[in-house]
Amino acid sequence: MSPNALRIDGSRLWRSLMDLARIGATPKGGVCRLALTDLDRQGRDCVVGWLRDAGCSIEVDRVGNIFALRRGRSASAPVVLTGSHIDTQPSGGKFDGNYGVLAGLEVLRTLAAAGIETEKPVGVAIWTNEEGSRFVPVMGGSGAFAGVFAVEHLLAQRDVDGVAFGEALDRIGYAGDAPVGGRALDAYFEAHIEQGPILERENRVIGVVTGALGQRWYDCVWNGQDAHAGPTPMEARHDALRGAARFVEAVHALAVRQAPEGRGTVGFVQVKPNSRNVVPGRVAMSVDLRHPDDAALAVMDRDLRDAAAAIARELRLECDLTQVDQFPSSRFDPACIAAVRDAAAALGLSRREMPSGAGHDAIYVARVAPTAMIFVPCKDGISHNEIEDAQPAHLEAGANVLLHAVLARAGAVPA
Ligand code: GLV
Ligand code: MN
Ligand code: MN
Repeated sequence: MSPNALRIDGSRLWRSLMDLARIGATPKGGVCRLALTDLDRQGRDCVVGWLRDAGCSIEVDRVGNIFALRRGRSASAPVVLTGSHIDTQPSGGKFDGNYGVLAGLEVLRTLAAAGIETEKPVGVAIWTNEEGSRFVPVMGGSGAFAGVFAVEHLLAQRDVDGVAFGEALDRIGYAGDAPVGGRALDAYFEAHIEQGPILERENRVIGVVTGALGQRWYDCVWNGQDAHAGPTPMEARHDALRGAARFVEAVHALAVRQAPEGRGTVGFVQVKPNSRNVVPGRVAMSVDLRHPDDAALAVMDRDLRDAAAAIARELRLECDLTQVDQFPSSRFDPACIAAVRDAAAALGLSRREMPSGAGHDAIYVARVAPTAMIFVPCKDGISHNEIEDAQPAHLEAGANVLLHAVLARAGAVPA
C-alpha cells in the first residue's frame, strides 16, 4: 500500500482510550490517575505493554519519562517523536493527555500492521507529571528533558502530604536509568483535545497549533489570627479567609482587564483550621495567570502583587506571595506547523490555526526540537472535568493527521 493511503484504525484507538480510562475510573465517567501513584503505575504498565506489542523497545529516564522506540532504516538518525501524558487531574477526563499517547501508539500499530519501514526511527513519549496537580512544576518531566529544571530539583519536589517526587517515582518502579534529555530529536508532534470551545463552535475538525500562552503560577499564603467566632468583635479580627476571598475577586478582575485573552484562576484553597466556629488564621491558595502576550502577562503579575499588598494592608494580614512556576508564550516550528497543516489538507479535513490556552509537554520539548501540535474538538470545550468528551471520528481524524505529519518527517521507505 502506498504510504499516502495509510489510515489509522479509529475503533482500535477508541478501544484503547476506553480500556486505559478504566484505570482510575470515577463514578461520573472521568479518570483520577494522579502522577506517580499506584494508578499511574498501572496505567504506565498497561500502555508500555501495548507499545512493546507494537514492536517498540522501551527506555525510561531518571525522572520517569518513558520512550517507546521503533527502529528506522537509519538507526543513528534523530527520532521523530510523538506522545503526551497519562497522569490526570483529580477530577480529570478520559482524553486529556491520554489521547496524545494512544494516538502515537495507534500510529506505531498502523506502521507495524502495514509493514512500513521509515528512514528515521519513530517514537512515543509518556511524560511524567504533566498536569502539575500533584507536584509543581507543571510539565515537569518534559521540562527536565528540555533542561528547564535540574533533575535533582524535580526529584525533590513534594506533594501536599510531603511525599517527594523521587520517593514516589521509586515506589512505583519507574525511576529509570536513561539520562534525562540529550536525546536527538528530528521533530516532536503532540495530538491533544483542544480543551476549549473554538473548533466545535466553528465546526472544524483540526486545530493546527501555532504556539501557546505564557503562564505564571504562584503560591499565596494569608496569615491572620485564629480567634473564637462568638466573642471576637468583627473589627478586632484578622480573618485570613476574608483576605483570600478579596484576592480571588482581584485575580478575576485583573484577568478581565486583559480581555479577551487574559486568564486568572484560583483553583486550590486550604483554610486553617477549617472549623465552623473559628475565624480562619491561615489560608494557602494557588494562582494561575495566562496570556499570549508576555507584556500583558507582566502587567497581570504587577496587578497581582499590588492587589495582595493592598488587601493585606487594609485587612491587617500578612501575605506571602511566591511565584513557583512560569514560562513565556511560545511559537512552534514553522516546518512542523506546515507538516500538520499539509497532512490535514491532504486528508481533506477542515482546519484552523490557533494557539493553545493550556500547558502541554510540547511547549518544553519545543525548546530542544522542532515541534508542533494537533488539536481536535472536545464536547462543549470542557476539559479538566470528568464529563470531558470527544467524538470518535474527530479523534480518528487527528490521529491520521499525526500519522502523516510523522511520516512526512520520518520518510516512509518505498517497498
Ligand atoms: C495543564 O494541563 C495546564 O494547562 O495547566
Ligand atoms: Mn494535557
Ligand atoms: Mn490537563
